[in-house]
Parts: sequence; C-alpha cells; structure tokens
Amino acid sequence: MSGEPHREGPSVSVERTFSMIKPGALQRRLVGEILSRVERKGLRVVAAKMMTIDRGLAERHYAEHLGKPFYAGLIDYMTSGPVLALVVEGENAIGALRSLAGPTAPAEAPAGTIRGDFGCRTQRNLIHASDSPASAAREIALFFSNEDIQPWKDGNDEWL
Ligand code: CMP
Repeated sequence: MSGEPHREGPSVSVERTFSMIKPGALQRRLVGEILSRVERKGLRVVAAKMMTIDRGLAERHYAEHLGKPFYAGLIDYMTSGPVLALVVEGENAIGALRSLAGPTAPAEAPAGTIRGDFGCRTQRNLIHASDSPASAAREIALFFSNEDIQPWKDGNDEWL
C-alpha cells in the first residue's frame, strides 16, 4: 500500500436520491440507526426536513400506486406522523440506498438491510428510497427547493 488513495475510472457516477424515513421509524427511535447506515456507507446527506406531510403531497408522491389495494392504507400511514425527508448524494447513490434499504417487503429482505433487520410488514417498511434517476428528480422536487439543498465537499471522497 502506497498510502495513495485508489482512484476510480470515469465510470463513477455521482447521483442524488430522495429518501424518507417513515413515521414508524421515528416512533421506534430508529432514525439515528438508519442515518448511521447511510453515513457509514459513504453517502452524504445534503438536505433533511422533518415534516408531517399532508394528504395532497403523499398522493402526489405515491401517484403511481393509485388504485392498488394498499394505496389508502399507505396514504393514511405516511400522513400519520412526522417523517424525515432526505436528499442523499454520492456515487451511485440511487442503487446504494436501495441496497441499504433492502427489498420492499421486509419478509423478503435479507438480514443486514434496514428492512431486513427492523421490519416485519410491507406497509411499515421504515424507509422510502427512489427507484430510478427520474423518480429521484421528481421526488426531490416535490419535497425540496434548490435552496434547501446544501452540497458539501466530502473530505473522504478519495478514500471511499
Ligand atoms: P415505498 O418504497 O415507500 O414505496 C411504495 C410503498 O407502498 C412501499 O414502500 C410500501 O410501504 C407500500 N407497499 C408496497 N406494496 C405493498 C403491499 N403489498 N402491501 C402494503 N403496502 C405496500
């Protein structure tokens, strides 16, 4: 080891993704645990907002699920108490955050993932994470203005 940081080639892609720590995770005092996993992965939180979302925002956010059997329960749950909305940045942040979260259904989520370690029920799956660049852009814009986002230079960049 020369002590020189390993440098990735040009394929590295810095992305932003949207995440929400859901009401049940706040109730269960899991916010710190979840944020800690995001940080230890090497991702950067560049915006955070504690908010109780109204039905209109929840319905816009989850519009693709309108008509599904779980939709009404999902909207009720997501508006039942505060969430922590986040913008998370880093290399391949969209996929990285979804890997940390694990599959949507906690019953199928492996141990070591947030949903696998802490969840039992699909509707109470602790965290939302955008599933594509288009979803990330749409969801970030629903919850945050440009001024809310505080990019910072990551001093660990070369070492992650
Ligand atoms: P999320 O990643 O926030 O995106 C849509 C949400 O709908 C999902 O997490 C779950 O909370 C919820 N959901 C998806 N499928 C089901 C289901 N079969 N039953 C109950 N809730 C679901």
